[in-house]
Amino acid sequence: MKLSFQHLVSTEQLSRSDTDLIMKVSEQMEKVAAKGTSDILKGKVLGALFYEPSTRTRLSFEAAMVRLGGSKITADGLQFSSMYKGETIEDTIIVAAQYADIICMRHPEKGSADKAAAVSPVPFINAGDGPGQHPTQALLDLYTIQKEKGRIEDLHVAMVGDLKFGRTVHSLSFLLGLYPNVRFTLVSPKELVMPEKVTSFFKKKNISFVESDKLEDALDADVLYDTRVQKERFEDPKEYERLKLKYVIDAKHVKGKDVTIMHPLPRVGEITTDVDALPNAAYFRQVKNGVYVRMALLALLLDAV
Ligand code: CP
Repeated sequence: MKLSFQHLVSTEQLSRSDTDLIMKVSEQMEKVAAKGTSDILKGKVLGALFYEPSTRTRLSFEAAMVRLGGSKITADGLQFSSMYKGETIEDTIIVAAQYADIICMRHPEKGSADKAAAVSPVPFINAGDGPGQHPTQALLDLYTIQKEKGRIEDLHVAMVGDLKFGRTVHSLSFLLGLYPNVRFTLVSPKELVMPEKVTSFFKKKNISFVESDKLEDALDADVLYDTRVQKERFEDPKEYERLKLKYVIDAKHVKGKDVTIMHPLPRVGEITTDVDALPNAAYFRQVKNGVYVRMALLALLLDAV
């Protein structure tokens, strides 16, 4: 079983046969994880380079490698790396590839993943490049939608919050564009609308979308994908404070509805904790699905399945 790529930088590079394969192998990996571990990646080493904060992506990549019998080496914090001394991303990746069989990297700079993939002698996975892309998050989102709704086609997906800087919604938009009859409602303040790169993709592919600044327009979708306002991307802290909680989803908004609530997390107040116990709150299940999808990617890119 083969993917069409060696390095995963952006969801724009994925074909429908890639996503079908990743979904299928993720289901197999869910069964492996339910039993505990496997040894299909025994002897393989993951280089996990995290130059920007992360809880889920980092831990789930590490958990995925451990569950498949491999091991990991890690580097975190730009200030503790030789990039702080001026080493280029390219040199850092070539060096890391002398130690690891596969590399994932999170970096604050948009485009850093392209630079890394251009030189990496081993498979490279983008674990988030600034406000650019987060392809593994989008793949786990896709897997979650399939599990929660029983389908990925014929869906109304509402995206809410910081659509400008939220890399997960950019990545997920391109992926959902591979599936028929998915329509979008994009809810954000006017300062944080979806970038033109994504809306022009929708137009080119004749994908229906509407833009709104009202949360109410998202509450009757099949999937409500909420996002945090990305404090770290704002130059003016006052502007962040003004926008950060424009939309707060509480249980009254979504209780008893068919809408599935997703969020890449972390949340910082935009979904209140009274939503957590509702059956349609899927965001913690979404976290768990990240391990299966990353297991699938590691296994596929290392030719172990
Ligand atoms: N969803 C996500 O990328 O979370 P982390 O920033 O904690 O990795």
